[in-house]
Amino acid sequence: MTRFYRWEPQVYSFRMPFHLVDHPIAQDALVALRDTSTRASHFRRLAHRVGLIVATEATRDLATRATTVQTPLEQTTGQTVAADVVIVAVLRAGLSLIDPVLDLLPGARIGHIGLKRDEQTAKPARYSVHLPEGLADSTVLLVDPMLATGGSAVMAIDVLKEAGAQDIRLLCIVAAPEGVQALERAHPDVAVFSSALDRELNGRKFIVPGLGDFGDRLYGTA
Ligand code: PRP
Ligand code: URA
Repeated sequence: MTRFYRWEPQVYSFRMPFHLVDHPIAQDALVALRDTSTRASHFRRLAHRVGLIVATEATRDLATRATTVQTPLEQTTGQTVAADVVIVAVLRAGLSLIDPVLDLLPGARIGHIGLKRDEQTAKPARYSVHLPEGLADSTVLLVDPMLATGGSAVMAIDVLKEAGAQDIRLLCIVAAPEGVQALERAHPDVAVFSSALDRELNGRKFIVPGLGDFGDRLYGTA
């Protein structure tokens, strides 16, 4: 699949499934997330709202099974979600996206992968992994709002594949082209869903225009 995404004056094409979730409500919330004056309490609510929309898009093709239901008027048919879904959050920032996915899929199981980027090198270091069993038969929604160099996402997906995961989707809020390209090289089978594709990384490997350090803004740390 080749799709084209424009950030003036650049046009990117990716040879992997990259889904830009440009729903107007997500875009509206993204403006406030980017706003440097937005405080942590409001930032958390906005992240939740965008997370709901990105997760809705990322689960559009989940397997369903036919069922019947008795309404007050008659019996009818419907579809229920048949997929076993596991949410895996990359700590810390990914914690913000667990609740919106649980709003949609309350029965989802949850895993955590602790990664921290070195401030000088921007390389991620792994500090904890806790995953549910049976990932081979699950749809894994890996949640991490920022895809910058892609180092963290590549490492997290390495961990998931070592644990047997096959159907992995990455849910982000802001992605950089460099991060998508890193995933394209390492894990072209993983679909990415993001509410923004920003221009580039700066010298410190932060996304620009971006929204700053997501974890710090979420928790009011610095
Ligand atoms: C941020 C973010 C990603 C990573 C993205 O986490 O949440 O995990 O950086 O950068 P990359 O694509 O260059 O790897 P960070 O390591 O700052 O940890 P935190 O969430 O605990 O603040
Ligand atoms: N992590 C963040 O939180 N923000 C960036 O811009 C890059 C990595």
